[in-house]
Amino acid sequence: MEAFYNKLLENNKEWVARKTKQDPDYFKRLASGQKPPVLWIGCSDSRVPANEIIGAEPGEVFVHRNIANMVVHSDMNLLSVLDYAVNVLQVKHIIVCGHYGCGGVQTAMTNKHVGIIDNWIRHIKDVYRFHQKELNKIEDEKERFNRFVELNVMEQVLDLAKTSIVQGAWENNQELHVHGWVYDVKDGLINDLKITIKDNKNLSEVYQLDL
Ligand code: CO
Repeated sequence: MEAFYNKLLENNKEWVARKTKQDPDYFKRLASGQKPPVLWIGCSDSRVPANEIIGAEPGEVFVHRNIANMVVHSDMNLLSVLDYAVNVLQVKHIIVCGHYGCGGVQTAMTNKHVGIIDNWIRHIKDVYRFHQKELNKIEDEKERFNRFVELNVMEQVLDLAKTSIVQGAWENNQELHVHGWVYDVKDGLINDLKITIKDNKNLSEVYQLDL
């Protein structure tokens, strides 16, 4: 147990040495500020490390992660990250990246009581209810689970578009694309759901804000 923990700090020293050898100004440059073009909203799952799976370097991705990559519009943490990313950093892309095999999404399909997390998972259950017609038709449980993961990502993309932050950026003609991806922990590949939105016209009218 101690060995694993100590190794983490050793790894850090090795990493610093490697980076500095490749580029003596590496940390000096990073210390001067950040201008990442991407905001990543992903799952906390340890198997889906944001930067690593897309080959991004430090400084390139602003990251928010929570259980099941949710965009909960009363979540101050999410809203603060989103506001800073869009209005200060002026990211060009927001990527919601879910993943097949997501424990949060799987739990939402059951009646299991886990603990305080039940309240978080309720948001995912709402997604199930919105799409229950389609989901209940899928007999194969694994297939239904996979589709639920995809639909959950789709709803989070729409939930981002519903925020005044994202709609405000579009109103100001700020270039901002919101994408939905699903990562497969079985082979490491990303499935681009091709549901990118660039304006609020695809939202139900009731969500379109006059800004
Ligand atoms: Co997950």
